[in-house]
Amino acid sequence: MRWWWKSLISLAVLGTVVALSAAWYLSGRDAREPSRMTFFEQCASCHGQDLAGKESDTSLLAPLRYGDSTEQLIHSIRNRHVSPDVTAVLSEPMTKALALYISEQRQEIPSIGGSHTRTLPQGLVSTDHHDFRVELVAELSSGPYSIAPLPDGRILLSEKVRGLSIIDHQGQQSQLIEGAPKVWSELIQLRGSYIGLGMMLDVELHPHYEDNGWIYLSHSDRCQFDCGSIWPVSMVRVVRGRISEGRWTDQEIIWSVHKDNYTVVPDGVAAGRLAFDKQGFIYITVGGKSTYDNLHVMDTPYGKIHRVRDDGQVPEDNPFWKPTRERSVSSSRQSVWSFGHRTTQGLAAHPLTGYIWGTEMGPRGGDEVNRITRGGNYGWPLYTNGLDYNAEPITIGRELGLDFPLTATIPPTVDFTPAPSLSNFTFHHGDRFPKWGNDLLVGSLRAQTLYRIRIDDGEAVELEKLLTKLGRIRDVEMGFDGLVYVLLEHDDTGSLVRLIPG
Ligand code: HEC
Repeated sequence: MRWWWKSLISLAVLGTVVALSAAWYLSGRDAREPSRMTFFEQCASCHGQDLAGKESDTSLLAPLRYGDSTEQLIHSIRNRHVSPDVTAVLSEPMTKALALYISEQRQEIPSIGGSHTRTLPQGLVSTDHHDFRVELVAELSSGPYSIAPLPDGRILLSEKVRGLSIIDHQGQQSQLIEGAPKVWSELIQLRGSYIGLGMMLDVELHPHYEDNGWIYLSHSDRCQFDCGSIWPVSMVRVVRGRISEGRWTDQEIIWSVHKDNYTVVPDGVAAGRLAFDKQGFIYITVGGKSTYDNLHVMDTPYGKIHRVRDDGQVPEDNPFWKPTRERSVSSSRQSVWSFGHRTTQGLAAHPLTGYIWGTEMGPRGGDEVNRITRGGNYGWPLYTNGLDYNAEPITIGRELGLDFPLTATIPPTVDFTPAPSLSNFTFHHGDRFPKWGNDLLVGSLRAQTLYRIRIDDGEAVELEKLLTKLGRIRDVEMGFDGLVYVLLEHDDTGSLVRLIPG
């Protein structure tokens, strides 16, 4: 046997072993989760394995006497037990992890693996301001990422590992649009999570789409061999183009970075969400596709929100802009608008003010809704309300040598602890749900919940769950018909549903 043939076989065997161990690890991860195990060992004897309580007064699912915020739960665990053996052995982070475990169970946030189904409610759903029906619009062939409703009622769809297509008025999905940026099938796929490099991400219409036909796409551009790596590497890139007779044409690159910034970190954290403000600037989110210290290095693109003009020109009033001669060729600091973001999975502009808002996925706890400000530091990974999934506090920021005061960061407008895994969102507008005004409609993956948030004077004054147990929500958009479109992903397919006032 030739040497290369042998190495190929050993590589294949090694690959299979790695994939199998990863599958085993992920399938048992929820059951082995440390706070869950601690609860079973130290709390279940009185509060029950299902938290329903052995006696009527020990139920942790019923309304709690001493409050159910994370702080109140921590206080109860420490102070409501006379016997010292309940709390004596609990570390501070484990007490917080137990508090998160209890509130995750109370809010019925399913385990990570248990969130890949779809349940459409039958009949009218009653909520605070409006009743509505949920209607299935289309079944999709693979895991979706984004939709952009078109003025004529059809819907542009991006699927992570397939590409771009259009859903027509009958809910039929077209052939793939030829000529759009290339995507790669997944390397490994585990319960709907693609560990891949080279995906289609967001799709967004130009604010004057009806006049100019421009469609903006973000994707993770993949490179191999000619970017100094034999292993494929990728990075977010934004292009615009038009669709003519089922083909992608007139493509122009709007935002890209030097190939030195391409990495092997899987595209699950690439983000790549797009939004236009009222002045015609486009904002682009890039997740932590690198080590987290780079989130605070302005010359790198990671963990930032970038801002350029609709034609890709970089405005000189960007906060970290420097002329070409004063920065390295691989620097992307000229387009940085804000930084210290973990993965900004959602981005949208307020329909009246044009202000840019983002949703960010934290670790376990600490998902955020943020108003994005010029030059703002959003604090990750030094500051977060979340915990690591191993019930340990997040110390990575200090380990990486990051050092800045909490007062130098922008606090979230809304903190979600426990974390529902917030994904994309939209601002409601139009007249089909008039009492929702310009509220945020926010999707979530793990919690499978559609939230409605009303923000007044920088604070959430209403926070309502419109739908729960729906499915993993990837995107939420307003149609030109005033209906709310919600994009769901399942194991390796997806569906599109819409809310119709009842
Ligand atoms: C020996 C039985 C026992 C064990 C073990 C126990 N608890 Fe309790 N727990 C109670 C009782 C009884 C109360 C109600 C105390 C009161 O009303 O002041 C309580 C109250 C609480 C409350 C407040 C409930 C409310 O209504 O606000 C929380 C939260 C809680 N326990 C969490 C835990 C956690 C977490 C553990 C494990 C580390 C634990 N408990 C272990 C018996 C127990």
